[in-house]
Amino acid sequence: MSAVDLDAWRRDGFLVLEDFVAAADCDALQARVAELVAGCDPGLARTVFSTRDQGHAREAYFRESGGAIRFFFEEAATDRPPAEALNKIGHALHDLDPVFDRVSRQPRFAALACQLGLERPLLLQSMYLFKQARIGGEVGWHQDAAFLHTRPSTVVGFWMALDDADRDNGCLLALPGGHSGPLRQRFRRQGESMVTDTLDATPWPAVEPVALEARRGTLVVLHGLLPHASAPNRSARPRHAYALHLIDGTAEYGADNWLQRPDLPLRGFA
Ligand code: FE2
Repeated sequence: MSAVDLDAWRRDGFLVLEDFVAAADCDALQARVAELVAGCDPGLARTVFSTRDQGHAREAYFRESGGAIRFFFEEAATDRPPAEALNKIGHALHDLDPVFDRVSRQPRFAALACQLGLERPLLLQSMYLFKQARIGGEVGWHQDAAFLHTRPSTVVGFWMALDDADRDNGCLLALPGGHSGPLRQRFRRQGESMVTDTLDATPWPAVEPVALEARRGTLVVLHGLLPHASAPNRSARPRHAYALHLIDGTAEYGADNWLQRPDLPLRGFA
C-alpha cells in the first residue's frame, strides 16, 4: 500500500482515499446485506422503532446491539418493507458475519491503521448505513469520540462508500482541522439508560464545512475528534456505506461507554 499523506491527516483530521475498497468487496457487502435484510424478522425491530414505543424495549434493543447484529429503522418508515425502511444495521457485523469479517480484516486496512499510529488496533464497531433514497435522515454534527470514548482518545472511523456519495444524496460533511479542538460531549451509560454530558461548550470552529464526495470504493478516514455530519438524502438514489470504528487497545476503554460486549471480546485484524 502506498504511504498515506500523514501531513494532510494531521492537518485536516480526515483522508479521502479513492479506490481503496475493491469493487468486488463493495458487491460482497451489498449482496450480504440484501440476504440479512431478507432474513430479518422485522417484528421486534418495528415494534421498538414505532413512534408509540420510545421507551424501555427500544433502549434495551440498542443497548445490547454492541455485540449483536440488529436492525434500526428510519423513524417515519416503519410501514415500508425493511429494504426500503432501514436506517442502519449494527454493531458487530465485523465479528458475527463472515463476509463483513473478511472485508473488515483485509491486510490493507491493517496496514492503514498501523500508518495512522494505532499500536494495537481493535475493531470496536461496525455499521451498515442505508441513507435511503428520499427518506434517509440527516446525521447532525458530532465527534465519534463522544460515542466511543477512550483515554486518551484513539477512535478512528473507516467509512466506505458503497454507492457514489455526493451532495445530493447526503455525503459526509466535515470541518477541516476541527479535530484539534476539545471533545464537546459524551454519550454514555448511566445504569440502564443513556445520557449525554456536555464536557466543553466550545462552539464548532468557524470554518466552511467541506463535502466529502466519495465515489463507490472510496475510503474516508475520520479522526475521532473531527466534527462531521451528513445531510438528509432528498435524491432518488440510495447512499449505502459501511463504517468501521477502531480504537487502540493500549488506551483505557471506559466501562460507561454505551457499547459493551461482555460476551464477545474485542479483536484486532488477526
Ligand atoms: Fe460519525
